[in-house]
Amino acid sequence: MISRYEDCLAVLRDNALFTADPRRLRDAGALVPERSGTLAPEDRAPVRELLTDAFRAQDFGQLAADVREFTRHLLTAREGRTETDFVADLAVPVASYAAGALFGGGLARRDGFLDTCRDAARGMTAGATPEEAEAGLRARALLSQMLRAEYRYAHGGSDRRGGVLRYLRLHEAERAVALEALTGALCALLFAALNSGPRLLGNALNALVRTPGSLPRLATANGPRLTAALDELIRYDSPFQAQDRAVTSATTLGGRRLAAGDRVRILLGSAHRDPEVFPHPDRLDLSRTPNPHFAFGLGPHACLGVPLALLEARVLLTEFAAAHPDATPARPGLREPHPTLRGFLTLPVAVGRRP
Ligand code: HEM
Repeated sequence: MISRYEDCLAVLRDNALFTADPRRLRDAGALVPERSGTLAPEDRAPVRELLTDAFRAQDFGQLAADVREFTRHLLTAREGRTETDFVADLAVPVASYAAGALFGGGLARRDGFLDTCRDAARGMTAGATPEEAEAGLRARALLSQMLRAEYRYAHGGSDRRGGVLRYLRLHEAERAVALEALTGALCALLFAALNSGPRLLGNALNALVRTPGSLPRLATANGPRLTAALDELIRYDSPFQAQDRAVTSATTLGGRRLAAGDRVRILLGSAHRDPEVFPHPDRLDLSRTPNPHFAFGLGPHACLGVPLALLEARVLLTEFAAAHPDATPARPGLREPHPTLRGFLTLPVAVGRRP
């Protein structure tokens, strides 16, 4: 277990000595967790490169405007209510819509898309009942079908207007990436968005409603102040608390000997509360700078969804803060009983009137 910031950073930075490929573990098989967002190791590099280019080609300003409109619609539809479950009512639909809109081709507005995303997201939580887990698997199969169908018809138009699917359709022939690997990676991307986005949003809102004055402050933040606030919310309560790596050859870390095939677990949540790096680490300080967290990982396995995750957080949290600057916890939320992922199954929040 690696808990100090510097040691975690050393492991994350040295991808040759500490590999993310679980097949290199001595106990491979028994202890390899299911990771729905992970790209298959053999296809990773070319697929990652192509997906990264497809993301870069998108107009994130336009996407943010689209997601903002959707978010306002959700908030307006709930006007007059005194309580909302932030996870089910806002975080899951906004994360689903944003991912669908980024993919493009009308996916986000397709019949049943949002409901299917809701079932898939619920099925991937540690609190799912056997029935919900079963429904979640069916929903993921259905989403894969929807994605593949959209991909097939995603022709024409300019790269910037068309979403990730159209970009890939236009550029797939130039790259040596098998179609099956690409569509598989797209599914992994969508499931990662449904898995991680709502957790990030729920954790952040929980911190905000428990820290007096922070919602009004967020409502008016923009530019570097907003960037600093989002970084702090992500550092303070990150969805990813731990990541595993396999040691590829004998080494020493923090005075401990490690053998090839050993498994090390990097405790990101602990590193982010290391007082050597983050003064008063248990305090939510929305203006904290510098804030060198690595909540999105580092290096060749780092999160591909960073621009989407940040966009969702920026839009939903600021819109919610503007609509409900006086929101408070209605009751304690229900935390997910998961060993390494942190999120809420429900997050009931008392909301007043729009100012
Ligand atoms: C919201 C949309 C998101 C998408 C589409 C997404 C997508 C992905 C994908 C595809 C990977 C695997 C990359 C690979 O295998 O090469 C990944 C890894 C990762 N993501 Fe995300 N992600 C999202 C949100 C988040 C959030 C909110 C966090 C945490 C704040 C996060 C943290 C991570 C981390 C730490 C890894 C590295 C895992 C590892 O090295 O084992 N992601 N993400």
